[in-house]
Amino acid sequence: MSALGTLNIGIVGACGRGKSFKSACDALDMVRVHAVCDTYVEGLDEAAARLGAAEKYADFETMLEKSELDAVIIGTPMQFHVPQAIAALQRNVHVLSEVPAGVSIDECRQLVAACQVSKAVYMMAENYTYTRPNVLVREMARRGLFGQPYYAEGEYIHELKELNEKTVWRRKWQTGIDGLTYPTHSLGPILQWMHGDRVVSVSCAGSGHHHRDPRGHEYENEDSVVALCRMRSGGLVKIRVDMLSDRPHAMTNYQLQGTDGCYESARAKGEANRVWLKSRNGGKDAWTDLKELEGEFLPEFWRTHFERASKAGHGGGDYFEVLDFVDAILGTRPAPVGIHEAMDMTLPGLISQQSILAESRWMDVPDSRTWIGERALGQLNMVWPEDRLDRPPAVRLPAGYAMRQYQPGDEAGYVDLMHKVQLGGPWDHAKIEQWQSHILPGGFFVVVHQPTGKLVATSMATHRPRPLHPGGGEVGWIAADPDHKGKGLGVAVTAAAVSRLIAAGYRRIYLLTDDFRMPAVKAYLNVGLVPLMYSDDMPGRWQTLCKELGWTGA
Ligand SMILES: NC(=O)c1ccc[n+]([C@@H]2O[C@H](COP(=O)([O-])OP(=O)(O)OC[C@H]3O[C@@H](n4cnc5c(N)ncnc54)[C@H](O)[C@@H]3O)[C@@H](O)[C@H]2O)c1
Repeated sequence: MSALGTLNIGIVGACGRGKSFKSACDALDMVRVHAVCDTYVEGLDEAAARLGAAEKYADFETMLEKSELDAVIIGTPMQFHVPQAIAALQRNVHVLSEVPAGVSIDECRQLVAACQVSKAVYMMAENYTYTRPNVLVREMARRGLFGQPYYAEGEYIHELKELNEKTVWRRKWQTGIDGLTYPTHSLGPILQWMHGDRVVSVSCAGSGHHHRDPRGHEYENEDSVVALCRMRSGGLVKIRVDMLSDRPHAMTNYQLQGTDGCYESARAKGEANRVWLKSRNGGKDAWTDLKELEGEFLPEFWRTHFERASKAGHGGGDYFEVLDFVDAILGTRPAPVGIHEAMDMTLPGLISQQSILAESRWMDVPDSRTWIGERALGQLNMVWPEDRLDRPPAVRLPAGYAMRQYQPGDEAGYVDLMHKVQLGGPWDHAKIEQWQSHILPGGFFVVVHQPTGKLVATSMATHRPRPLHPGGGEVGWIAADPDHKGKGLGVAVTAAAVSRLIAAGYRRIYLLTDDFRMPAVKAYLNVGLVPLMYSDDMPGRWQTLCKELGWTGA
């Protein structure tokens, strides 16, 4: 924190969701948006001006390295939440992350581990827990007006087929996986109403596939996905997420049933959110409009701050969310959605994705509080063995494919390929140009499928020294079209980039990858790259990975 007591915040994903944190940051005197980051470099000037940021970055690691930040707000697509949160936490930079917390159980474990060793605060920005009706119901539940809550429903119905095509990551991470891919807006408020409870097991089913994307492909996500969640208390919660059905949005449908009352949110415009309380309503048909209870039950804190908060958008929710984050950083009170609450909201969705594949089998949801003693895991690093620098790997392609250098006119094909494999978020001309400054001459490889002229694989040989690889050359952005699987294209482009770096005289040639990218890791092993055991968790992780890959050595 600066000497003047200002918290310097960096916003990543500043050209997308990150923008919407502006008003909340403006409304809080001690918060300053100091830096913005987005891979969409053309939008950075506008984002910096809008958010009043002094610094702009196209790369998150560089922002963390160069900018003097106390905290980051992560508003990037969901597959980046964990890697970016871990990178910040490792530098003891506080994190407010968009939802969901992560996209796989493995990476969630890594995030929890990173939180355990970091001095920084982690909070998940589950903003639906801050809407006025949801806060009011939470307060009423806290005061026991519903008695013992034992059943609840949450629905997030948000048709986004068009948005899918604009924010292409959604086509993979939200509609490209079956099960609940975006459940936290529904589950978040309910878990706060059922305070102290958590989901212990999940059974998930879908309504089938009735829609196709503009390319004619069926969405992997079923139209309506429903998960039944068994609570530790024995209660039951039903979550429905539907991002494909043609119909009006309904993202905030909720119900809560307790022994002494119930709550039903409005299902259509003009309807009221309503409650029935045994202690007040008596007769079974007498509902009360939730609004009428605001005077009595809206927390004092909300009332005092509301005028200020309402300027910040989302009915004040954004303000209270950032305020809670700042209070957690200052140590005034713990983050209401800290790492374990974030896991309670995220993990049931990830387990539902396994359940739906296993014919709706009930599956246990892990409790992240038991993941103690785990360590933050770094990325896998692979290197070319120094004793083989005189023997570059062979580059072989099957008939019908040709390798050449990237050339003007390849841009559209390259962008299509990177979007198809969902690597590195949105790509455009500016981003390709930005990377070209790191690429060695003759080090930007593309493979063309000759019958169609389509660009089907690519890699880069780049100059990228890092602390672990001083003077290093990195093999980067390796992609191979899944429609051309089994042709050895990934192996060929990796071998080409390694050979180029050897020819340029690099003695440390490396690439970074992740445990879950199993087919890619197998291709790298096939090329002749070897694991770098740079930390003591590496041997165990590589052993597991090699076993799963059936890899017994080249
Ligand atoms: N809480 C909410 O109500 C709410 C609403 C919308 C979106 N979201 C969440 O916010 C996130 C972003 O959604 P969106 O609709 O803004 O998506 P988007 O694609 O419109 O915007 C994401 C932005 O991140 C940038 N980006 C992508 N990869 C990056 C990287 N590696 N480093 C830096 N910048 C990168 C993109 O260029 C883009 O500007 C998602 O996780 C989504 O789930 C939450």
